[in-house]
Amino acid sequence: MEIDRTLIKFPSANEVPEAASLDADRGRWDGLYLVDGEVKRWDGPLDDVRSPVCITAADGTIAPALVGRTAKLDEAAARAAVTAASRAWDHGRGPWPSARVADRIAAMSKFNDRMRKEREHVVRLLMWEIGKTRKDAETEFDRTVQYTQDTIEAVKELDRTSSRFQLAEGFIGQIRRSPLGVVLCMGPFNYPLNETYTTLVPALIMGNTVVSKLPRFGALSHMPLLAAMAECFPPGAVNVVNGDGATVVGPMMTSGAIDVLAFIGTSRVANILTRQHPKPNRLRTVTGLEAKNPAVVLPDADLDLAVRECTSGALSFNGQRCTAIKLVFVHRSIAEPFVAKLSAAIDALRAGMPWEPGVSLTPLPEPNKSATLAALVEDAVSKGAKVTNAGDRSFATFYRPAVVYPVTPAMRLYHEEQFGPVVPVAVYDDEREIDAFMRESNYGQQISLFGNDRGRIAFLVDALVNQVCRININSQCRRGPDTFPFTGRKDSAEGTLSVTDALRQFSIRSVVACQATDGNKELVQDIVASRKSAFLSTDFIL
Ligand code: G3H
Repeated sequence: MEIDRTLIKFPSANEVPEAASLDADRGRWDGLYLVDGEVKRWDGPLDDVRSPVCITAADGTIAPALVGRTAKLDEAAARAAVTAASRAWDHGRGPWPSARVADRIAAMSKFNDRMRKEREHVVRLLMWEIGKTRKDAETEFDRTVQYTQDTIEAVKELDRTSSRFQLAEGFIGQIRRSPLGVVLCMGPFNYPLNETYTTLVPALIMGNTVVSKLPRFGALSHMPLLAAMAECFPPGAVNVVNGDGATVVGPMMTSGAIDVLAFIGTSRVANILTRQHPKPNRLRTVTGLEAKNPAVVLPDADLDLAVRECTSGALSFNGQRCTAIKLVFVHRSIAEPFVAKLSAAIDALRAGMPWEPGVSLTPLPEPNKSATLAALVEDAVSKGAKVTNAGDRSFATFYRPAVVYPVTPAMRLYHEEQFGPVVPVAVYDDEREIDAFMRESNYGQQISLFGNDRGRIAFLVDALVNQVCRININSQCRRGPDTFPFTGRKDSAEGTLSVTDALRQFSIRSVVACQATDGNKELVQDIVASRKSAFLSTDFIL
């Protein structure tokens, strides 16, 4: 493809502003990992972390910036992390799983306070490692801190509810949610911090012990937080490792020591991992996988609103979100004006470096992503679609968004998740075509409906609500608010995440029960009054 250097300008080293520079901490995070309460520096091989952001040399050549180096742990180190987590779990008798809820809350609150202090380090690393804009990187960090705070409040509420004894059919019972064991948390590269912590934090606070294997890109952004983890949680309660997935994760799964797999990524990898467990019935899985969320623009839709929401919904973080709008269905009667407006809106988006104000399009971290996207577009064009917006598309790690129209079922873009800046638009005549699309899709996460016709929207809501898990009316697909359930059907997800749902995912209800005889009542009351048990207790936290 012809190189068009006007698509984006990569800076020279001295054009990187001080407010985005990593120079002050260069080398500081290299090779770190956390095992058994100790932040270690790996003395084995390291992987270079190359940024999607390139640097222009004096001779005009460009090359991805070197951000730092991550530990390429070997199998023995991975096993050591699982062993540390298993020891800390100790069949539920370790200091962390057997701690009082108030103590676990105190540890998590302390960690959240310590985390806040690392904001700028994490934000800068997110900009360089995955090309996230400063605004979005700050949002990811702040949302994670808020999620942790909300989780703490939800645990308090859960504890208040569980502190009551229940009486039924002549029995007295106390029911509490108990931890499950060792949790392997694996987040994705597009939200390396947030989507790792939305499983790690609830898993940990419920009393499980955790091994976190960091994502392909974005691992360094976790490094500034390791010291705080070591300081706030007992040895082995949380372990953070990095390296090649097959080398590091395979042995953890085959060890049989993992009780819960919390994985956000592709169904292909999720299937490999779950099949590696020697006792699959003992493995609980919580996953967030692919999606092909459509938007439907009805004949009476407010076109400006639909264009605004579809642009942002399809292209926030360059379309690299599982919740992104990945196919737009527009009614034939308004297809031409909609596509013209959408193309103009997308052409108006500013491309640049993650730290530049007002930028929304940035370079992509996945190697060869431009070629993958170009192949999807070429497939559609070869079958009759057109690219309706401006100009040449790709330069190095940058791919300018393409609006592809009209996309038909014969084209790969109609079915496959592009996870990047390509916006396929299909034409429909009858709402039943949308229903048919969802029936045939492998995915079932969300859909957006744009319009005001009560009858059509009611029809689509009822036709689709049992095929996806969230229907967005006149707004783009999204995960938040984080108190709303986030899940999917088919190959899109297993389990539900939200502040409160996640606490359920990482725990199981245990009951202590006895017949309500005078002797048993006295026995239970004595145990409660003496505060000899953490489980049999009426203490609660405000
Ligand atoms: O990549 C999937 C994320 O969970 C999306 O979250 O809708 O807040 O961007 P978001």
